[in-house]
Amino acid sequence: MMTVPDLRRYKRERKKVIVVTAYDALFARILEQAGIDTILVGDSLGVVVQGKSNTLSVTMEEMLYHTRIVAGAAQKSLVIGDMPFMSYQVSKGEALRNAGRFLQAGAHAVKLEGGAAIVDRVAAMTGVGIPVIGHLGMTPQSVHQYGGYKVHGKETNQVKKLEADAKALEQAGAQAIVLEAIPAALAKTITEQLSIPTIGIGAGPHCDGQVLVLYDLLGLFDDFVPKFVKPYAHLKADALQALRHYKEEVEQGKFPSDSESYH
Ligand code: KIV
Repeated sequence: MMTVPDLRRYKRERKKVIVVTAYDALFARILEQAGIDTILVGDSLGVVVQGKSNTLSVTMEEMLYHTRIVAGAAQKSLVIGDMPFMSYQVSKGEALRNAGRFLQAGAHAVKLEGGAAIVDRVAAMTGVGIPVIGHLGMTPQSVHQYGGYKVHGKETNQVKKLEADAKALEQAGAQAIVLEAIPAALAKTITEQLSIPTIGIGAGPHCDGQVLVLYDLLGLFDDFVPKFVKPYAHLKADALQALRHYKEEVEQGKFPSDSESYH
């Protein structure tokens, strides 16, 4: 059973934290069978499941629905619920209440995007026993402010801010920090400066762990494939081949055959 304190233990023991997203029970179970012990119910849901161009329209109710399903199926994983846009930005009280709803849905921790601007929320959640994972760098909920999905931390002022944000999140009680789309050298520096693990996505090999979106990793989602994605399978191609084959066999009267028929 992977737990929140194991995150720091993994860092101390130089063991990689391996995270993959899941949105349903079937894949939550497959991840566990593969030995993946940390599951993120990501708001990437909006893009890979709902077909939107960004994550901004994902709601609390949608996230709770998928968190409940994943947490219900996962038996030994650490389940992290991703707080959607506008569920923690408006006020500390609202953020706290919404974070609590994730734990009631079965998550063991919540993830929030942002640095110094949200440390009061992180401290409040930590103070009442809600474990928090931070998320810095290319934070997708700010896509319009950035003018698109771009690498962060190339300018000196961005480097200083990212380092300061990471420290502020750690001080506020964050249990780990996702670093997205930042130069590998910067991720290495931040990783060395913290006692909590960094979990990289497009942040190079020196982070304490890695996270990928499930459908990217499996080669199921190919509308947009960022440089940092490595497809470990090509399931979209396999699915297309299977579906075309099925159609052909039905058209040709080959399916169902005698062995798929009742007598
Ligand atoms: O929503 C998500 O899946 C994420 C990961 C890409 C880190 O935030």
